[in-house]
Amino acid sequence: MPMKLHLAKQLNKVDFSVIPVYTEEKLSKLKAYGLASEIIDLTDSDFGRKLGELHMLYTPQLGRLLLLGLGNKKDLTPARLRTAIQTAILGTKKFKPSSLQIILWNHPGLQSQEFLELISFASMFGAYSFDYYRQEEKSNLANVFLVVSQISKTASAAVAAGSTIGQAANQARDLANHPANIATPAHLAAHAKSLAQKYNLRIRVLEERDMKKEGMGLLLGVSRGSDEPPKFIVVEHGPKSKNPIVLIGKGLTFDSGGISIKPSERMEEMKYDMCGGATVLGILQAAAMLKLKIPLVGLIPSSENLLSGRATKPGDVLTSLSGKTVEIINTDAEGRLILADAITYAKKHYQPKLIMDYATLTGAIIVALGDEFTGVFANLEKYHQSVFKASRATGEKLWLMPLPEEYQDQLKSNIADLKNTGEKGLGGAITASLFLSRFVEQTPWMHFDIAGTAWTMRARPHLPVGATGWGVYHAIHFLSSLK
Ligand code: BES
Ligand code: ZN
Ligand code: ZN
Repeated sequence: MPMKLHLAKQLNKVDFSVIPVYTEEKLSKLKAYGLASEIIDLTDSDFGRKLGELHMLYTPQLGRLLLLGLGNKKDLTPARLRTAIQTAILGTKKFKPSSLQIILWNHPGLQSQEFLELISFASMFGAYSFDYYRQEEKSNLANVFLVVSQISKTASAAVAAGSTIGQAANQARDLANHPANIATPAHLAAHAKSLAQKYNLRIRVLEERDMKKEGMGLLLGVSRGSDEPPKFIVVEHGPKSKNPIVLIGKGLTFDSGGISIKPSERMEEMKYDMCGGATVLGILQAAAMLKLKIPLVGLIPSSENLLSGRATKPGDVLTSLSGKTVEIINTDAEGRLILADAITYAKKHYQPKLIMDYATLTGAIIVALGDEFTGVFANLEKYHQSVFKASRATGEKLWLMPLPEEYQDQLKSNIADLKNTGEKGLGGAITASLFLSRFVEQTPWMHFDIAGTAWTMRARPHLPVGATGWGVYHAIHFLSSLK
């Protein structure tokens, strides 16, 4: 059962109450909540109110109470507020509350439409835990109340939207967190079908024989070493249109590297190599639930990258759907291959107004930007402002990366139209994007390399280990701004 969010004007009987406090706020102000003096007597050193700082108390009036630091008021951004709310919800987890309330009464600034949506999203996101494979420690947070001074239609709509998008992001996290023996290409396709049925989306799944007929030599080449049949998932949302926005997600359900095999240390993390596909399904789910009036197409090329006697070998040449031939130098650079065929499919069957692709594409982007920033590459500037605005509004951070033609030389092959890797250690995230750009050509395009942000193995107070659903919230904001 997903957690439910409610707007309330009154205090509720709950397992936990959360009161946000800015650094410059006097704790004596808490008198306004009818709290006894033991709290008001807290000194600054007891509770410094830095961003995400928590102080837990038991009060006769409210029961378990969590004071939540918001940091300096002037520094508050959506990203910081999101961090704070997620920290508070995660901070209550070990008590296994089934209900909690966030008391926003004294903070009119936090009750704007934008912030109510964000707080709802962050609550939903914070309440998430991946419990399929354990019998104990299941969390059961069922209800979160946002206690505000005024309930209006717009406030309720904001809470509903935040909650819906949060649910879709959590769905994407679920898909990605499932291990690769469960989350196979067939599993992704089945999930897409159930989404389509539930939310009235059009769906088509291309099987191996269809890929052969179509000529998707790159996707088939990546899949050759695996016994799991590849799937190419096509989902359409909204009115049929000549010029939809096409969302492409890398759905590589396990990346062993293939014949260019990866070191075994941390290879288990490569079950997350389908996070891009999960994000695209999350975006479509949210778009459908919110009834966004934008024509969208989701394309998810899905395969494993394994090794066997049939697997593609370094030195092999594959013919892409576009007709361009690719010399495979490293079978571990497989993401760009399956994306390239999806990009060509998009151009062949739709005339995309814009292609947006999401992929855990390169280790190099993690070296460049770490695990807080997604690298975005684009062949046009038209959308920059809206993309960065959506990033600021949702706390999903981006950094603009270059697509310099100077590095195209790195992709020259001696025998084919291009090769699938550049020089080692020389702008690997960039050359991967340049490879994609050879298939995109003139179509408006943005590429999100989410290798650093799609999952984390480094638990933080606001973020547990596992998939993050990166991109669902950002994309919905971005797409909504295009209307
Ligand atoms: N799925 C990986 C990228 C990746 C690596 C994501 C680490 C998250 C964490 C991708 O398929 C890959 O293996 N890329 C290679 C490319 C190289 C062989 C040119 C890489 O980044 O090392
Ligand atoms: Zn790889
Ligand atoms: Zn990969």
